[in-house]
Amino acid sequence: MSEAAVTEAISALSVPPNPLIFDSGCGNGEMLLRTLRRHAPARGLGVDLDEDAIADANRGVGDLEARFEVGDAAAVSGPFNAVINVGASHVYGDFRAALAAFESLAPVILYGEGYWAKHPSQAFLDALGGATIDELEDRSGLRAAIGEAGFTIAHESLAGDQDWARYEETLAENAERHDAPDTRSYAARIRDRRALAGGTDTLGFALMVLRS
Ligand SMILES: C[S@@+](CC[C@H](N)C(=O)[O-])C[C@H]1O[C@@H](n2cnc3c(N)ncnc32)[C@H](O)[C@@H]1O
Repeated sequence: MSEAAVTEAISALSVPPNPLIFDSGCGNGEMLLRTLRRHAPARGLGVDLDEDAIADANRGVGDLEARFEVGDAAAVSGPFNAVINVGASHVYGDFRAALAAFESLAPVILYGEGYWAKHPSQAFLDALGGATIDELEDRSGLRAAIGEAGFTIAHESLAGDQDWARYEETLAENAERHDAPDTRSYAARIRDRRALAGGTDTLGFALMVLRS
């Protein structure tokens, strides 16, 4: 997403003074750290299974009141004032389980989720590493699932073609920079997938603020 879209989504989180915010599947903690700065003073907990990502996150804490831990984010119980879950609904199994879990965690969710922008071809699913069509919904199906889980969408922005190109090409370039057999094949998979018919416009991504 663009810097502006991320900043707008974080600003749209309605939280009380000195909120406690949980980022489930926080990666390198960037979203939580940005959110704590925007809503300061605020306290944060970020949890991810990836030790390297958590080490990166801890290096960015500075004078913020943030704790990052290696662990299973699905085992963390609330309540929190807000939850961040961006590209990480699989923490809970799938996006439907994530939406069900959010309900007992917080009244406000900063939620980033994929959706089928168009019907995925079998070649595209294969190129994603054996994805199945039922792993995601199309945009109206995602909106319906959010509503059925008891949330309304208070803010939404969608990744555009340029956002996807920047994201996937940066992933591939970073992997190639490591210049190891597994990172070279990872980069090749991204480039091969983007070269397929529908390779750049099948998958969509929405960054949303949900309110219960
Ligand atoms: C696509 S990354 C997104 C990271 C981060 N939310 C972001 O926006 O940059 C998904 C993250 O979920 C983490 N993850 C997957 N299952 C998890 C679990 N059960 N508990 C904690 N983290 C998990 C992965 O390690 C990975 O860092």
